[in-house]
Amino acid sequence: MRNTLKLLAVVAALSASLAAQGGSDTKGKFFFKKNCKSCHAPGGSAKEITPLSKTQAQWKAYFAAGKHKKGAEKLDGLLKPEQVKDVQTFLVNHASDSPQPETCGG
Ligand code: HEC
Repeated sequence: MRNTLKLLAVVAALSASLAAQGGSDTKGKFFFKKNCKSCHAPGGSAKEITPLSKTQAQWKAYFAAGKHKKGAEKLDGLLKPEQVKDVQTFLVNHASDSPQPETCGG
């Protein structure tokens, strides 16, 4: 029981630090489905991507670089900067090594 409480405290602290970055997990999920899955889904024009495609560190590095794909195109070209932040929060929160891995409906 004590360990469970400790774990919850850690998770709460982590969520708080992510929230401090300003992104919204819920909005990020919405924008990811709406603006990224159009191409990144089975049968789409690009390979399938879900939060599980990368670890938390890999997603952070990806968004820190700010490039969508190899080449110069910026993520900001696809979404408004605050929406990019939301998508980042969603993807990092549910990455393959996160406390709540999520496939986003596949
Ligand atoms: C118009 C279609 C399209 C949209 C919309 C789109 N992408 Fe892409 N994306 C591509 C293509 C094409 C590539 C390069 C080829 C590939 O990886 O399949 C790519 C590459 C990527 C990669 C690199 C894959 C890797 O790990 O090597 C990531 C990550 C990515 N996109 C994330 C996103 C995110 C996040 C969004 C929404 C904000 C998004 N994409 C929206 C077409 C799209």
